[in-house]
Amino acid sequence: MHIITLGSETDFEGWRKAARALALQGIAPRDVTWNVRGTDPELFDSRSDPLPENSQGGAFNVPAQFVEMAQTAILHRAPERFALLYRLLWRLRINHDLLSLATDPDVARIRDMAKAVRRDEHKMHAFVRFREIGRERNSHFVAWFEPDHHIVELAAPFFMRRFADMEWSILTPDLCAHWDGHALSFTSGVSRDEAPSEDRLEEFWRSYYTSIFNPARLKVKAMRAEMPKKYWRNLPEASLIKPLIASAARVSHSMIAAEATAPNKPQRREQPMARKSSSSDNLATLREEAADCRACPLWKDATQTVFGEGPAHAPIMLVGEQPGDKEDLAGKPFVGPAGQMLDRALKEAGIDRAKVYVTNAVKHFKFVPRGKIRLHQKPNTPEIRACRSWYERELAALNPTLVVAMGATAAQSVFGKITPIQKNRGRIVDLDDGRKALVTVHPSYLLRLPDADAKAREYEHFVADLKIAAKLLGASARAA
Ligand code: URA
Repeated sequence: MHIITLGSETDFEGWRKAARALALQGIAPRDVTWNVRGTDPELFDSRSDPLPENSQGGAFNVPAQFVEMAQTAILHRAPERFALLYRLLWRLRINHDLLSLATDPDVARIRDMAKAVRRDEHKMHAFVRFREIGRERNSHFVAWFEPDHHIVELAAPFFMRRFADMEWSILTPDLCAHWDGHALSFTSGVSRDEAPSEDRLEEFWRSYYTSIFNPARLKVKAMRAEMPKKYWRNLPEASLIKPLIASAARVSHSMIAAEATAPNKPQRREQPMARKSSSSDNLATLREEAADCRACPLWKDATQTVFGEGPAHAPIMLVGEQPGDKEDLAGKPFVGPAGQMLDRALKEAGIDRAKVYVTNAVKHFKFVPRGKIRLHQKPNTPEIRACRSWYERELAALNPTLVVAMGATAAQSVFGKITPIQKNRGRIVDLDDGRKALVTVHPSYLLRLPDADAKAREYEHFVADLKIAAKLLGASARAA
């Protein structure tokens, strides 16, 4: 019997080296025992037989798909995974196509293990909640999480990218991950008592959750499947779930019965202002003029025109679709949930929002009232066309190096025609007027994605698009 003791629960390289040496010497799976150092003090603990020498210099190959799957499956908590992986490797030497046999019990078990690890990783991405300890300059964010499998090292880079500007620690019983703003590090697991439970962000989470909870869209079954109960005790919003579900039917009935909230409209002139000469346009006069725009009927129900905002010589002009509910009330673009998503992505891409000009293709909020809610409606082509002259005049007044069109409505306005997003995104395009443009998705598309994994992936893609803008600007600033 050969005893192999791996360095840790996630020691894939150790397993790979041992498995290769054993297989080359023809040592059958039933003759190998796999251990992990420090996990069983009763056992010889770190006893490990020397790896057999490959004196004949033989070699064998396994499909790349196996290596990929093994790297994931080895993170499963089942103690038999090392032996199972070795058995599969052993069999693959003779039957190279074994992985295509979905009904083979070893193949099916390893696939299930890899799947469970991936699922656990996604749950960690979705359900880690940081609590702030310390204040301002000394603040540090700490989260407690109990993964099903050994996924901390796998999941940590996601948090590093997402929360690059915070110093944080994720504590788990297996392993703790730490980010100090420069490097990721790992220390041994701790007990739950070492994680903070309450802080000033708690209330923020609860009010955020209450505000995004839509009782009319409640699907308890789907919610339970997405957010299994075992995660609830680490979620600040968990205490709200039961009361919100219990009151959902009553609240949505009263929402339907209630009158639409009358928007708080500022006093407006009946007649539109006369159009001023565009040669003298500057952003302040344009804003004033646009406040009385009647070019399409959307002004009638909206609270006010939401004009663009940003420095008069900003090198980037970001164009969205139209103001949402929060923007309509505030009179400023991108201040609601899509705006927060945009702010985060800009920061991650290295772009300072205060230095860019942010506007919308359509400058009035289009909605239908549903009880107390004003439901966003996509602007149609005549509305986009009617508003385009504001975009053109803003563009002329600002004269940016780059226009970033976020989403289909923005792209239609920027290019003057319907422009598919996925086909055109992520590359610099020359506009007819000699300026440059970049197409990407709208941040609210990311907010709408129901699947945490897809959301994380698409968010990274969005940030990557914005980095193209940052790079172009860096290059043109250096050339200037
Ligand atoms: N969505 C937009 O397109 N613009 C905003 O200002 C807010 C949300």
